[in-house]
Amino acid sequence: MNRKEFLQLFGLGATALVASACLGGCGSSKSSDPVPGASGVDFTVDLTAATSAPLNNAATGYIYSPTRDVIVAKTTAGTYVALQAPCPHEGTSVYFTQGQGRFVCPNHNAIFDLTGTVLSGPSPRALKQYTVVQTGTSLHITG
Ligand code: FES
Repeated sequence: MNRKEFLQLFGLGATALVASACLGGCGSSKSSDPVPGASGVDFTVDLTAATSAPLNNAATGYIYSPTRDVIVAKTTAGTYVALQAPCPHEGTSVYFTQGQGRFVCPNHNAIFDLTGTVLSGPSPRALKQYTVVQTGTSLHITG
């Protein structure tokens, strides 16, 4: 194989590689809601459990559900909120800044308020909000 044949072969290979990568959905993977919030959410949080300790730590103030679909946060007012954890933009888990009462996506810096409303950044929509009912030291989260 001479140099010309090699370059022709390589050029064809690169073209075929790009073409095959796009057959799986180039252009079609961008929908208006690429990362919807989970539905059928139903779980409880025992506020006395060791796994809930970050909720009462001002440095964190949040935990994720076992499946990381939901972020549960404690506000400075002492109430709890539960929102969709995967950012609607590309799915990176948001985190909570208790002092500012904001949810932040570390990927492209989308910022959401306590209700999940987009304050800034590229998120195409708000974070889905879930219902939180506190009974004693237990939180029941549904939605
Ligand atoms: S993935 Fe969250 S802002 Fe892009």
